[in-house]
Amino acid sequence: MSHGICSWSIAVKLNLVVLLLFVTSFSSCINDRVAEFALTTKEESDLNEENRKELVEEEEHLDSEDLEVFSPTNQWKTVLPGQAIPAGLHVQLNLQTGEKLAKLPDNNNEKSDVKDTPKSKRLGPIDIDPSSFTRQELKRALAKVKESMKTDDTLEQKAHQEDVRKRFRPIEKLKEEFRELNLQLETDFDIMFKLISKLNSSASTLEEKIAALYDLEYYVHQVDNAKDLLYLGGLQLLINGLNSTEPLVKEYTSFVLGAALSSNPRVQVAAIEGGALQKLLVTLATDQPLAVKKKALFALSSMLRHFPYAQQRFLKLGGLQVLRNLCSEKGMETLHIRVVTLLYDLIVEKLLLTHDNDTQTREITQQYSQVNLVPAIVEQGWCTIISNLLQMPEHDTREKVLKTVHVLLASCRDSYTGDHDLGHTLNLLRQEYEDLAAEEQKEGDEDGYFKELLSSINSIAQQLK
Ligand SMILES: *[C@@H]1O[C@H](CO)[C@@H](O)[C@H](O)[C@H]1NC(C)=O
Ligand SMILES: *[C@@H]1O[C@H](CO)[C@@H](O)[C@H](O)[C@H]1NC(C)=O
Ligand SMILES: *[C@@H]1O[C@H](CO)[C@@H](O)[C@H](O)[C@H]1NC(C)=O
Repeated sequence: MSHGICSWSIAVKLNLVVLLLFVTSFSSCINDRVAEFALTTKEESDLNEENRKELVEEEEHLDSEDLEVFSPTNQWKTVLPGQAIPAGLHVQLNLQTGEKLAKLPDNNNEKSDVKDTPKSKRLGPIDIDPSSFTRQELKRALAKVKESMKTDDTLEQKAHQEDVRKRFRPIEKLKEEFRELNLQLETDFDIMFKLISKLNSSASTLEEKIAALYDLEYYVHQVDNAKDLLYLGGLQLLINGLNSTEPLVKEYTSFVLGAALSSNPRVQVAAIEGGALQKLLVTLATDQPLAVKKKALFALSSMLRHFPYAQQRFLKLGGLQVLRNLCSEKGMETLHIRVVTLLYDLIVEKLLLTHDNDTQTREITQQYSQVNLVPAIVEQGWCTIISNLLQMPEHDTREKVLKTVHVLLASCRDSYTGDHDLGHTLNLLRQEYEDLAAEEQKEGDEDGYFKELLSSINSIAQQLK
């Protein structure tokens, strides 16, 4: 069953590979390369597929599996996608497989033989700069490792994810390859046309449709491609796809929508006109698998961010209640922090409006003035729902919640000042982070992550006195 999808998608992509190889005029035997390329990409199925660094998929960054630190040895070892690479390692990127390798640096300088070939001329492994991972990213990753990892996913969901991952690995590897080479493919429009036709065709199997959606997601990240999606009628097709009775179609449709909507006002406007907001809310309000709701929430977030009109409609349609119900629904615990993150972002977005007095700014300010999010949050009892999440064990969850509590402090004062549970939780957290911050300082880190959390806790406690 999986063979069908892979060969179809690879057929499309292989054309591109051939094209690419001609364009960049690699000297050595092309046919061999292509064959080798296809083979390698098919084999490595043990890597984590969710390796996208792009901000758009910020939701994926919240997955615990993404935040890990690579542990180096003296031998070359594959760096799994999403793993942070500690500073000072010797890192190589293999252009043919997209694979990243790292190891502890040797004492003898064996790098030099690679160094003197210019990067553009080389097809072999190239050195990359591990310092591209920020200190903060590493810090967070380390915090993750320190805590006991808990996962709420059931075995069944795990199996499902594993299954999807295995099936789509080759495509993902190819995409990764393109991204790494920073290619501008002139044929994006044609490819999207084919994918959209595949999606629309009653002759397509479920697997073919999912594969088309999966590929489409890659293309619509680009603003221009997302506009072509509108032009080709693909957006309405996607919105209709939210109606599907197939959970996988719902899931991947939401995924593509989320990517297309993200930071793209034209798509946002067209999508809200096409009824996407209502459909996403229905998806979130009804009985659906976690994977579906996760992507629907991602699409909803992309729809609402920096789009005050959608935020206003969202409030009118009872969207906040839908999210609140989601927060009390069993099995949806991993979504709570995503919901809080969305609310935090929307609150801050409004707070950060500039106060210039030009026509455009006045108009935007006028639109935001009709988004009464914070009063609705207070009215619907979110203050306590949010502060209760401080009891979660993960440091970065707590960090998000602390920030949200902070920004809501003035509005939620009434419910927070008399809240003994909150006082108790803050005390426990203070003790925990005092210890962790002290340890951190002993290791020579003056402005560490835990110290930051500690001062955030102290500041909240202080203001609640
Ligand atoms: C989908 O197919 C229908 C009927 O075959 C056609 O009318 C419609 O234009 C197609 N939509 C897209 C976006 O291709
Ligand atoms: C999708 O479902 C809604 C009800 O949830 C219905 O009103 C609408 O007609 C359906 N659209 C399609 C294209 O099936
Ligand atoms: C903004 O400019 C308009 C005229 O362009 C003026 O009437 C208004 O008072 C100004 N508002 C502020 C807050 O400066």
